[in-house]
Amino acid sequence: MRTYFFGDIHGNGYALEAVLQHMDKQKTDALFCLGDLVGWLPFGDRTLQRMRSLGISTVAGNHDLLVCGLFVDHPHQVDRMQATAYNAGLLSSIPQALDYLSNLPLIFERPEFVVTHHSPFHLPAAEELPTIDCFNYLDEFALTECLSAWHEYPHRLIFSGHDHVPAVFELPDTAERPRFEDIRTYSPAPDADLVLHLQPGSKYWIKAGSVGGPYRDGVPIANSVLYDNESDTLTLFRVPFPTGQLIEDMLALRFCHIVPTLRKYMELLESRS
Ligand SMILES: [Fe+2]
Repeated sequence: MRTYFFGDIHGNGYALEAVLQHMDKQKTDALFCLGDLVGWLPFGDRTLQRMRSLGISTVAGNHDLLVCGLFVDHPHQVDRMQATAYNAGLLSSIPQALDYLSNLPLIFERPEFVVTHHSPFHLPAAEELPTIDCFNYLDEFALTECLSAWHEYPHRLIFSGHDHVPAVFELPDTAERPRFEDIRTYSPAPDADLVLHLQPGSKYWIKAGSVGGPYRDGVPIANSVLYDNESDTLTLFRVPFPTGQLIEDMLALRFCHIVPTLRKYMELLESRS
């Protein structure tokens, strides 16, 4: 069975279409979206409507829930708050758009893997609503904190998005208490796919990277992942998309010039186009 994963689209419809075409060529049996359909780019109306029409199994990302007003952001995330407000305005005129986003599940559990936007170990307790603290980043401290829970976790694979940096963490089988130093990290080259043959006994945490950006690894290219359980391989894909029209769309909006994160995003696109 071949299962394809992608997420963090963030309003970039050009990258989304490139990934959907790429997926069509992969002969996939199942498909999951890792959330953040909207947010960051001021075109969330485009990707929300496209994704909703496809009916793909999709988990909620922090941006999806922020635009619905489910919780407040960290006070230092000024750019993200601006993008949230802009996107909430765009979606307010689309019937049931906010209902669709606010009803997305936080996790899908399958026997071999789980799918969630950030981390299965930081989800709210049953009956509790998520907060922004459920979506902090997976740095060394956060990973160390959940290492024992990951070691004991019944699922072999975790698929997530959120930090926009494609990588695979491997936790080798160890009878002893695992340490952060035990984790092996694999990252794709800027312009090449990465194929990984999985090891029996190891657990894997697969960060799919971002379809639409901002690209925090400095590579303006769409990212996605394929898991083939017959060959027992993971492939992290680098999927090019046409950037010219996106740059034009962004240049035409004053909003993109005044939000520093979006200004840097445009500069990165222009430097590689
Ligand atoms: Fe994201």
